[in-house]
Order: sequence, then structure tokens, then C-alpha cells
Amino acid sequence: MICRTSLREAMARLCIVGTGHVGLVYAVAFTLQGHEVHATDVDAKAIASLQKGTPTFYEPGLKEALQKALRTKRLTFSTDVKAGARDAEAIFTCVGTPSREDGSIDLAYVEAAARTVGQGMRSATGYQVVAVKSTVLPRTTEEVVRPALEKSSGKKAGQDFGLCMNPEFLREGSAVEDAMHPDRIVIGGIDARSVKALERVYSKLTCPRMRTDLRTAEMIKYATNSFLATKVSFANELANLCDAFGGINVDTVVDAMGLDPRINPRFLKAGLGFGGSCFPKDVRALVAGGKARGYGPRLLQATLAVNELQPIRAVELAEKAVGPLKGKRVAILGLSFKGGSDDVRESRAIPLAKALVRKGAKVVGYDPIVDEAFRREVPKVEIARDLTSALAHADVCIVHNDWPQWQELRAADFAGMKRMVVIDGRRILRQEAMAGAELLVLGG
Ligand code: UDX
Repeated sequence: MICRTSLREAMARLCIVGTGHVGLVYAVAFTLQGHEVHATDVDAKAIASLQKGTPTFYEPGLKEALQKALRTKRLTFSTDVKAGARDAEAIFTCVGTPSREDGSIDLAYVEAAARTVGQGMRSATGYQVVAVKSTVLPRTTEEVVRPALEKSSGKKAGQDFGLCMNPEFLREGSAVEDAMHPDRIVIGGIDARSVKALERVYSKLTCPRMRTDLRTAEMIKYATNSFLATKVSFANELANLCDAFGGINVDTVVDAMGLDPRINPRFLKAGLGFGGSCFPKDVRALVAGGKARGYGPRLLQATLAVNELQPIRAVELAEKAVGPLKGKRVAILGLSFKGGSDDVRESRAIPLAKALVRKGAKVVGYDPIVDEAFRREVPKVEIARDLTSALAHADVCIVHNDWPQWQELRAADFAGMKRMVVIDGRRILRQEAMAGAELLVLGG
């Protein structure tokens, strides 16, 4: 059911559990939307930093928004999850759901958070609603969160307290904007009262909203990310086909496809594949979850397979251009999973660097903001302090992500290389500015 709510003043007392990318951004956004927010985390160091107005990760606009939210005096931070849960009308659990080896997600944090929240709710008097914002597979809220909450609170969901699943759709790089002005709000509830209680939190926002049951809300998040990841893999498959046929530019193909109103042109940019904290993990989790329940999703497995292939395509292109890579110096530009972010989680630069190292290449990486975090992932990579030293004496350069500054690069910037062989893995360099260099592009 889709419905729109009119503007209505309503301030609520909220508790956020987990101040990672999702929890912190929502803590700030909810405060700026007029609510009173107590944000909690078990990490005392992170809380101390947030109390001082310093985010624990890079996100454009977040520092300013956090400081603005703190100035309202309606945002507080502490490590006391129990007290936060006790005093709130709505509690959002935003803890991580990391991947296990087999692709399934680890629910230890989700379960522990539910237990602690429940302990806090035990001594609460009024009606409270708990909303799961962490990305969890269908049935998790009912079968893992609900029993943990009920056991530790001594209360019954749907009777003594409300329970919702309320997925987030934040993109890194525009997370604050996405939380302040969402394109949709999905609220899955155990009953109508729970949904109504949570809708109060979003009553000032005018975007479309959907009310569903818990499982459907959980699935909507996975469906959205899997579809977008599949679009990216489709574009990459097309790019590889364009290369196989030769002389076809995949961007032109995609631009023309995008004119068809049934095909949105967004998320069809070919490159070295998708990374980040959501797409790879979520697609893998849905595949693993489907298999565990008797259906192995074919299309989604292919989405992952294409994604694994893309960094290898760049390595093959490098070998074709400069011969065996043993002893060759290869520069990677861009180490975060996408431009505008300091996040290296699932960055395609990791498998790219590892494949190059396996070939015996000397790999040097440069990113405008990432350094140590990448070295921890691939210790054999030398991290350059600037672009010039990264490119100095390199035999080949591979552009991995889409930092806007790569668009400004010209052939002269690569002059320090042994030979100016540049592989544009993100289709971001301007061909006309690269005259004089050997520019190789995945996808024509
Ligand atoms: C994504 C979803 O967009 C967001 O709604 C969800 O909540 C979390 O996951 P994010 O991880 O920040 O957000 O990155 P996004 O901008 O969506 O890109 C994901 C990956 O796909 C990146 O590695 C990006 O470079 C790649 N990508 C994206 C492409 O290769 N081509 C495209 O056309 C779009």
C-alpha cells in the first residue's frame, strides 16, 4: 500500500543502537528533523570522538551536520545502550551484519543488540517500538530479533511493545542528504500499531512510503541492492561483449538503452565492478540464504561471477599491453571502493592489487584520502603520497575508481611513467586530454 503523509509536527525521543555509517547518519538526520536522539555504541572511543563532534569515518557534510545537531542539544551520545533503550519511544538498531566465509551474514551483533535493548526495555513503562535498520534476511526480525527482545525484556511483541523492520537506502557520499530527503520510506511491522508508532518519526517527510509486514520489508532491501548490483554487472557484461566484437563503445550503447523509458540509464556505468559495504555482501547473503532454503538464485550468482571477473580483465589488458608483469611497476589510481569515500570495504582495488602481486608486479597505489586502510588489506602494496610519485617510473597505470579529479588528468600528468600505458578501468579519463598516451579502456 502506498500512501503520503502531510506535514505534521511530532517530536519523539529516539535511541540509536550502533553509531556506524548508518546509525550515525540517522542520529544526525533525526536530530535535525526535530527529534531528541540518544545514540549509543559499545565502542567507548567512538563515542568519545562523536561527543566532541568528530565523526569516526569520512562522509561528505557529516562533520558539519553532526556539529549542527550537537548544537541543538537534542543529540547525545553514550555507551549506555540499556539506559538509551529504557528512555526512548522508538529504538533503532543499526549494528553491522558482516559476511561469513560462505556468504551468509553473521547475526551476532544483531542478536546482542536486541538482548541489550530488551534489558533496557524491561524497566520502561510506556509503549515502545523497536525498529531493525540493519540489513537482515527475511524472517530474521521475527525469528532472531523478536525472541531475543522478548526474553530479555520479559515483554511480548505486538502486545507490550512494537516491532518493525525499517530498511535504509543510504549511499555513501550522499548519506546525510539521503537520510534527510529519502526517496521512499519502507516500514514493515508486526502489527498496525507498531507501524503507526514508527511513522510518527518520519511524519515530517513527504516522500512516498510503504507499509508492509516484516519479511517483505527485509526482502525489499535485498531486492533493491541485488537489482542495482545486477544492473552494474549487466553493464560490465556488455562492456566485455563490446570488447569481444571490437570497435563498440559501451557508454554509447548504454546511453541509447537509457532513452527507453523502461530502462533507467543509472547504474549502467561499466567498470571494474561493484564494491562497498552493501552490494557484494547483500548479493552474497541473498544467494546463501536462498540456497539454504532450497533455491539457488542463478541470476544473482552470475551477477557475482561477472563482478569477480572485472579486475582480472584489467590485469589481462595490462599484460597484453606491456607483456608479463613480473618485476613491472603497476600504479593503481583510486583505492576506495568509489570516489568520494574513504571506505575500502570490498573495493575492487583489493582483488586487482592481489592479482597483480600474484603476477610478480610491484604495485603502487594512490588515493586522495585512503592510505593505511588499504595497506592493511594488501600489505605488499606501496602507498604513494601523491600522484606524481605513484606514476614515477611505472610501466602501466590502472585507474580503478571514479574520483572526480581523475577527470582532470591529461597525458602530461603521466609523463613520469616509463611508458605512458594507461588503463581506464572506470571510463573516466577524457580521451582528448590523453593524446600522446597509450589509453586502453575496458568496454571500447
Ligand atoms: C549502495 C546503494 O546505492 C545504497 O542504496 C545502499 O544503501 C548501500 O549500497 P553505496 O555502497 O554507497 O550504496 O554505493 P553505490 O554508489 O551504490 O555504488 C556501489 C558500487 O557499484 C560502487 O563500487 C560503484 O563504483 C559501483 N557502480 C555503481 C558501478 O560500477 N557502476 C554504476 O553504474 C554504479
